[in-house]
Amino acid sequence: MRVINFGIIGFGTVGSGVVKLFLENQDEIARRLGFKLRLKKIADKLMKSKEGVYVPIDMITSDAYEIINDPEIDIVVELVGGKTFAKQFIIDAFKNKKHVVTANKALLSEFGNEIFTEADKANCYIGFEASVGGVIPVIKTIKESLAGDKIESIYGIMNGTCNYILTKMSEEKKDFYEILLDAQKKGYAEADPTLDIDGIDAAHKLAILTSLAFGTNVNFSNIHCEGIRDITNLDMEFAADFDYTIKLLGIAKDNGDKIQAKVHPTLIPKDHPLASVRLEYNAIFIKGVGCGSILLYGKGAGMMPTASAVLGDIIDCARHIHTNSIKTISNRGYLESNMQNKQIEFIDDIVSKFYIRLMVVDKPGVLASISGILGEKNISIESVVQKGRAQNGEGVPLVIFTHDTREKELREALNKIGGMDYCLAKPVFFRIEDKI
Ligand code: HSE
Repeated sequence: MRVINFGIIGFGTVGSGVVKLFLENQDEIARRLGFKLRLKKIADKLMKSKEGVYVPIDMITSDAYEIINDPEIDIVVELVGGKTFAKQFIIDAFKNKKHVVTANKALLSEFGNEIFTEADKANCYIGFEASVGGVIPVIKTIKESLAGDKIESIYGIMNGTCNYILTKMSEEKKDFYEILLDAQKKGYAEADPTLDIDGIDAAHKLAILTSLAFGTNVNFSNIHCEGIRDITNLDMEFAADFDYTIKLLGIAKDNGDKIQAKVHPTLIPKDHPLASVRLEYNAIFIKGVGCGSILLYGKGAGMMPTASAVLGDIIDCARHIHTNSIKTISNRGYLESNMQNKQIEFIDDIVSKFYIRLMVVDKPGVLASISGILGEKNISIESVVQKGRAQNGEGVPLVIFTHDTREKELREALNKIGGMDYCLAKPVFFRIEDKI
């Protein structure tokens, strides 16, 4: 009986999870496959699992190239993360005609065009289900299940740390930094949370989904990306008063020649399914011509959920090797030679509705001046609310909802309003998506 061997580079949290799940489910996997899938080698500098998963000592090496250069190994599982060694390991694996499974979103979003081209040249499989939304099967859904459909838009809650913080802020009425500190103490947020809270991790995942959904190469640096540092309890409460919830969304839309791809805090209707996604959970909402609306929900990170997605890819790859059908696969769901280079719309040109919050002096004529400045830029107001009366010369919050407006005009108007002497703090604005 043919044996298909795989090796894992990186015996950290996810690597340990893959080994644990594989060892626990080996018999069931063999029953599914009808051929033998074997874990041959694990490479890690530490020579052991930090999660206490034990394997025979002769299965472990500190040299990744004992896997990449092993003629018996068919599938290289890259779980070291980062963009330097990991990239070299993957490229060298393809040179040796080995298939690859990875969870490395940063690498695929920033160097995907090169990596997928190399995989294609070598006729190799690259599985990356775990790179977006952890265990949520969104890559296979877009690439396979919706292959006959036309995807119009994707809205994703794709960073568990941010969703956890926003949920706690809204439910416990504590401010951003208090919740962040608590999340760090409990291990939900990294010691250096920048990648998560500034939206970069979500943008990595959005770049991958955008390229699969619309069959286009994506230049990661063109994705507009804002995080959650500036969201206040005040804005969450005002949003809730108007039946909105604030979520950090990755948004991709197909606008024909151009596409939208952006990550930012977004007001969404309180009764939309995405608004009920709490804590560290992820969810991806897909709209298509044939499929209508689909919501995929689950754990976007963590040892075993991520391991489950990685192992699923290893099995998928093994099946293709076994049936000699690797060549029938397009790793991104489109022939690489047919991938397009659609332009990502500049954020200033994108039209949406906006929530604006100003802190202003409470005196006659202020509202007239503000609406005049908005009017000069052709910005139409849907509603305005002043919250309370000023005490002792303090400012009052003034909340404005606009109709559809191009972002450039909105920014110009807010710059002018921000410079007026009645405006006591930098104007705050968030984009609204109320037709999702
Ligand atoms: N740090 C990410 C999150 C998980 O908070 O969702 C890995 O992408």
